[in-house]
Amino acid sequence: MGLSNSDLRSVAGFVRKATKALNAETIILEAFQVLKTIARIDRLQVVYSPLPGRWTEWKSSPDELEVHSHDEWPAPEKRVAAAFFDPEDEYAGFIAARSRGGKARDALELVAPGIWSSLLLRAALDRVQKAGSLETELARATLRARDEERRHIARELHDDLGQSLASLKLALKWAEDRVRAGRRSAEVTHEISKAREDVGVMLDKLRDLSHTLYPRILDTLGFVPALKELAHQATRFSQIRVECTTQGKSRRLQSETEITLYRCCQEAMNNALRHSGASKLIVHVRFAQREVRVTVEDNGKGFDPRALYGSNSRVMSSGFWTIRQRMADICAAFRVSTAEGHGTAVELIVPYSSREVHDKRKNKTTHRG
Ligand SMILES: Nc1ncnc2c1ncn2[C@@H]1O[C@H](COP(=O)(O)OP(=O)(O)O)[C@@H](O)[C@H]1O
Ligand SMILES: [Mg+2]
Repeated sequence: MGLSNSDLRSVAGFVRKATKALNAETIILEAFQVLKTIARIDRLQVVYSPLPGRWTEWKSSPDELEVHSHDEWPAPEKRVAAAFFDPEDEYAGFIAARSRGGKARDALELVAPGIWSSLLLRAALDRVQKAGSLETELARATLRARDEERRHIARELHDDLGQSLASLKLALKWAEDRVRAGRRSAEVTHEISKAREDVGVMLDKLRDLSHTLYPRILDTLGFVPALKELAHQATRFSQIRVECTTQGKSRRLQSETEITLYRCCQEAMNNALRHSGASKLIVHVRFAQREVRVTVEDNGKGFDPRALYGSNSRVMSSGFWTIRQRMADICAAFRVSTAEGHGTAVELIVPYSSREVHDKRKNKTTHRG
């Protein structure tokens, strides 16, 4: 007995509903309903592979819906009608049903593509949604880190520099009063030279703070001297020997590119200083023909690259995520090579922009002329 027009209309109705379904279970329940109506089935088995080597199996009956996960392909039950999602690959999944009527096989064949495409669509939408919320989560973490940095700067300005300036004001007032009263004693001279020393300390702090906010050396001398300065500071304040070497003819890059590269190197170097336990850290800058390659390499303990993805295996940890985002913003690439016990190398590859290539050509002409 073949399928009637009304059966075909029921199947079309099912496909429409399944396409809009908010989860896989709704798709299976709708499929069961339509097959029950058309072919009088009393049980439906649906097997679908969400990932290579993984299968989800739903067993639907009038009273319940069971869901199982398998890492081995669950074959169709014996003596039932089955329709495979992909006739060329039975492991992609199938639907199977025992039926009391004669139309089961045709009905299953007709419904199977609708179930498969709805399940695929649902899985794709879930992935996009999940990726979106992970990105939001990481963006939030980045904003929190930025706020934390601002809070730190505000505290430094208020508690430290603010207090020092307040004391300085009092000291100057004291000296002024003494001078006004015509008492130019050694005490006053001493107070003024102490105030001058305090101003020196405050200037150093201000410089440090301003450097944290934006290293001006990047604008004045460029990315390589700024990196060398970073390496120098790291050697001074840590146990690790940090070297910065260059290869090829050094050149200035666009200022956005320079600050981005600098911030990414800073993160990779901080990681080496904080996590690696290395004795040596090398920052190597190579100006190649088409791109600049910066490698930050330590001889420390390395790590399991899965740590890149933080505690939830899909979330990239925020330091590396920021590097990835920053590199993507300037159309550059980054690569991490590491293994436990074998050190870590972070490589940043930044193609020259057309303007930089153009500038270089212009420079060449000028040299010749
Ligand atoms: N150079 C390194 N040596 C050893 N472990 C590292 C190194 N760089 C990163 N890691 C590991 O990778 C993790 C993620 O780094 P990152 O994304 O910068 O986050 P965070 O530094 O805030 O922990 C670190 O917690 C650490 O376990
Ligand atoms: Mg980090």
